[in-house]
Amino acid sequence: MNRLSTGIDGLDSMIGGGIPERTSVLLSGACGTGKTVFGLQFLCKQETEKGLFLGFNEDEVKLREICNGFGWDIKKMEESSRLRFLKYDMFGLQDFFEVLENNIREVGASRLVIDPVSSIGVHVQDSSEVRRSFVELDKVIKRNGCTAILTTEIEKPGVISRYGVEEFVFDGVIVLQNEADKNNYKRKIIVMKMRGSEHSTGIHDYNITKGGIAVV
Ligand SMILES: Nc1ncnc2c1ncn2[C@@H]1O[C@H](COP(=O)(O)OP(=O)(O)OP(=O)(O)O)[C@@H](O)[C@H]1O
Ligand SMILES: [Mg+2]
Repeated sequence: MNRLSTGIDGLDSMIGGGIPERTSVLLSGACGTGKTVFGLQFLCKQETEKGLFLGFNEDEVKLREICNGFGWDIKKMEESSRLRFLKYDMFGLQDFFEVLENNIREVGASRLVIDPVSSIGVHVQDSSEVRRSFVELDKVIKRNGCTAILTTEIEKPGVISRYGVEEFVFDGVIVLQNEADKNNYKRKIIVMKMRGSEHSTGIHDYNITKGGIAVV
């Protein structure tokens, strides 16, 4: 099985060498835990593959700023059409899967990030319909040969997804947490699931510094 490096120091060895190719990984975390940075790092810290970042929160200008803040040379990647940022309006989700698939094909993307994937369930009332949307997304990912990081927001402690179904649909689940520690909080990373892989079950510390995210 071919595996893709996450670009996060210390993480690949926790998941058997990297994310299995053509799988989708849910990245759950509370606000500020580094979900967007993680997604960008997955696309930027590699030299060969093409990537698409579909974001609902930050626009292209902001995403470029974040990357530049970490010293990632995205100008070169964008100029050579190896990286595309796409801002999507969460309130205008018509044709979402068609737009996504067209963009994946145009870029020739083998790496995909959707940040946050929970946005695609915003207008869906029925929980089985939400699950169907995520299953459809997973099909688009696999049909196009992509390996994907799909972020989701944790709103309450103990809950790892927005709709309670994402963790069952996607192939892997990585959780980013803030844990109170006297006068500050500690950042913790956990691999909850990685289908087809032997993975760490530890609760590891991680940092976000000027070089990006790194597991301690
Ligand atoms: N250039 C930088 N150098 C060091 N740390 C940074 C830098 N830029 C961002 N950070 C850290 O990353 C955090 C933000 O990470 P990020 O935006 O990825 O979080 P998030 O989980 O996506 O949050 P949200 O749920 O609000 O979207 C900041 O609070 C800060 O701690
Ligand atoms: Mg974010």
